[in-house]
Amino acid sequence: MKVVFLAMFITSSAINLSSQPSNLPPIPKPGPLAQPRSLQQVGLPLDQTRATIPPDNPQTPEKVALGQKLFFDGRLSADGTVACATCHDPARAFTDGKPVSVGIHGQAGQRNSPTVLNALYNKTQFWDGRVTTLEEQAELPITNPIEMGQTNMDAAVASIQAIKEYRDSFQSVFGRPPNTPDVLRAIASYERTLLSFNSPFDRFIAGDGNAIDDSAKRGWKLFNTQARCNKCHALSDNQPNLTNFTDNDFHNIGVGIIRHHIVPLARQAEQLVNSGNSAAIDRAAIQSKMSVLGRFLVTKKQPDIASFKTQNLRNLLLTAPYFHDGSQETLWDTMDHYNKGDGVQNPFLDQDIQPLALSEDQINDLVALMASLTSDDYKEQAARELDRQRAIAKTNRPQRNTARAFGPKPVQPPPPSQ
Ligand code: HEC
Ligand code: HEC
Repeated sequence: MKVVFLAMFITSSAINLSSQPSNLPPIPKPGPLAQPRSLQQVGLPLDQTRATIPPDNPQTPEKVALGQKLFFDGRLSADGTVACATCHDPARAFTDGKPVSVGIHGQAGQRNSPTVLNALYNKTQFWDGRVTTLEEQAELPITNPIEMGQTNMDAAVASIQAIKEYRDSFQSVFGRPPNTPDVLRAIASYERTLLSFNSPFDRFIAGDGNAIDDSAKRGWKLFNTQARCNKCHALSDNQPNLTNFTDNDFHNIGVGIIRHHIVPLARQAEQLVNSGNSAAIDRAAIQSKMSVLGRFLVTKKQPDIASFKTQNLRNLLLTAPYFHDGSQETLWDTMDHYNKGDGVQNPFLDQDIQPLALSEDQINDLVALMASLTSDDYKEQAARELDRQRAIAKTNRPQRNTARAFGPKPVQPPPPSQ
């Protein structure tokens, strides 16, 4: 494939490459928000939840407890300073509140930490879907040089093996000493207990007409009509999936990519993807500017350039900043992005991204809808964050472009010929 065409590909929002490494915070402790969540939650799909458990990794309370311990244990990293919980903090709905994550030795990656809550329902993991299961996923941050920094899984297992408590736990849970597949199984089992529903929106759908206010109700209507959100944040128009509000697919919605990087990036990426090495793809996604190529890194297909996975919309007030590169600070900014149909000059922009002509009141209604998707566990925190974001949005709306939002759909450049 020729890669020269890629020089044409421009979008307006640039990715944030300027995050400076900072001192690592202490690893969060597994408090009440880190405990396995109840299956009795309004909105929780019981059958679908049970179906996520693989036959070779049944859930047991002891295995879940072991997985939880590993998730919060810095000793899984090369120098003891970074745990899964460093970037997936239960107090922040298992995210880190940074535009892009910071790992071992304070090194910043290229991507925003997604929530692990309800990740068990994902058909693929990571923003580009480069792995499928939670078990496969857990290995990659452990061995990524700038996340947890282990040279390989044997090194990680050796550090666990050295601890008597872990030797005993692995013996009683799996009947054998610590080893790579069992470490990954235990972590994934714990993640399968991180279920988050019980939101005002769930009670509304269950029949309580007073669970959300009129603004959120108008937002829900807009979501499925003029605002076109349901085109991607639902399984299909006829079969909405309210579990995670995602079609489990990948789209180019015009978020971040820089013109002059594209040609060398795609060349490098092609070589890499041809190598088919999942660790190499992981490094490209986390550590290099090729990260902006998104799903292309996995499929090598032109239309997948800068496509990313449709993100789940629950607990958004805990998971700012937004998008795969953490480029938007508030939910109002994300709405401004959609309202103007961003990424005009981009031949791979999804057909469903177009100017929406949403008024300020309608934008507020959509934000109210998203706020109503907050689980009760995070209610107070979310209310404070909503106030914070509203205050910012009153004075600072860097993405707003009303003329474009109310203008005609711009002519999209044709996809380049091969
Ligand atoms: C240095 C920060 C960091 C550490 C440490 C870390 N993660 Fe992540 N995690 C991320 C980032 C960033 C992504 C998104 C990367 C991408 O899409 O390329 C991610 C993605 C994920 C996802 C995919 C979620 C989705 O919606 O696709 C899961 C699950 C996950 N991490 C679990 C873990 C587990 C388990 C550990 C520990 C073994 C861990 N993470 C360690 C930052 C981190
Ligand atoms: C064409 C498909 C598509 C449409 C239409 C769409 N989205 Fe998205 N949405 C995505 C994808 C893909 C992402 C992740 C993109 C990225 O980070 O690069 C996303 C991300 C988001 C995020 C950020 C989530 C996070 O955790 O960072 C929010 C909020 C959001 N969408 C809300 C909406 C709303 C509200 C609408 C309707 C106004 C909408 N989306 C319409 C596909 C879509």
